[in-house]
Amino acid sequence: MGVILGIESSCDETSVAVCDNGRILSNIIAGQQVHQAYGGVVPELASRAHQQNIIPTVHQAIKIAKISKKDINAVAFTRGPGLLGALLVGTSFAKSFALGLRVPLIEVNHMQAHILAHFIDQPQPSFPFLCLTVSGGHTQIVLVNDYFDMQVLGQTLDDAAGEAFDKTAKVLGLPYPGGPLIDRYAREGDPNAFSFPEPSIAGLDFSFSGLKTAILYFVRDRVKENPDFLKERLADICASVQHRIVSILLNKLTEAAKRTGIRQVAIAGGVSANSGLRAAMETARREQGWEVFIPKMEYCTDNAAMIAIAGYYKYLAGDFAGQDVSPLARWSI
Ligand code: KG4
Ligand code: ZN
Repeated sequence: MGVILGIESSCDETSVAVCDNGRILSNIIAGQQVHQAYGGVVPELASRAHQQNIIPTVHQAIKIAKISKKDINAVAFTRGPGLLGALLVGTSFAKSFALGLRVPLIEVNHMQAHILAHFIDQPQPSFPFLCLTVSGGHTQIVLVNDYFDMQVLGQTLDDAAGEAFDKTAKVLGLPYPGGPLIDRYAREGDPNAFSFPEPSIAGLDFSFSGLKTAILYFVRDRVKENPDFLKERLADICASVQHRIVSILLNKLTEAAKRTGIRQVAIAGGVSANSGLRAAMETARREQGWEVFIPKMEYCTDNAAMIAIAGYYKYLAGDFAGQDVSPLARWSI
């Protein structure tokens, strides 16, 4: 028997999932609207909202899964990386809950979990495969040798891809988080309307801060000429920015595939929900002959199903945490 309760609280989603021998029975996500007014996640408010949400979310996940608390064999939780105060809520709850139920506690690395979300449904990649992990805080090309044997081949030197989307959205006057909104407007626009620079970074690392500055100056200059520029060309700007971010990601991923000779290529993390990136992966499937793995939408952005599945593989390996475990704001995979 392997019923795992997974808890995610690294940023602004309180999420709880139940997984039974690798099968997800429930995956409840309580979002936090409170940050919208501030244009970004406010750490202190995130912690408070997790504190309010965690118990009702656990109850709901157990109810939807149609199990009872005594069926739970282990409690898995996100130990990091993330906002420390937010992680503390999930970590403290998981420790107490495991202690109360007298079951093992399992620590999970959030970025590993994004990758392991590929083992929730079929088809699943086999080892080794490459994974482009793109979220609000990370942009990495990871060589995945085994469930918990992962090597970062390249990563961003400054902003993450999700940040590039969110900061662009801010410049365009769109609310937080702007990534999904840019995606939506981009569908109506011309990706070749405007040309934004591609950074020349050697190897498999990324940089997005130059792009952010270029967009800022571009918008400032055009609005000076025509105050209605943003309103008139929003869709074209969004499509062009998205086109550039996606091409930066795909060029490096293609280089990584070339260097390693690996043809199984996956994407993971919040930005893997982006329709431009998903379409570019489909094109690569056809043109490069890659075997491509794209997560279901509900497993792209933060969720506890990925924590539960990562916890399940640790449970099988007997890899448990002690009650003295504490969260880590920074924790490489
Ligand atoms: O993985 P995630 O939910 O949280 C972190 O671990 O950071 O990723 C959140 C990021 C945000 O930057 C958000 O704007 C971006 O993913 N995102 C998107 C889309 N959906 C979420 N970016 C572009 N297009 C989307 N459809
Ligand atoms: Zn995430």
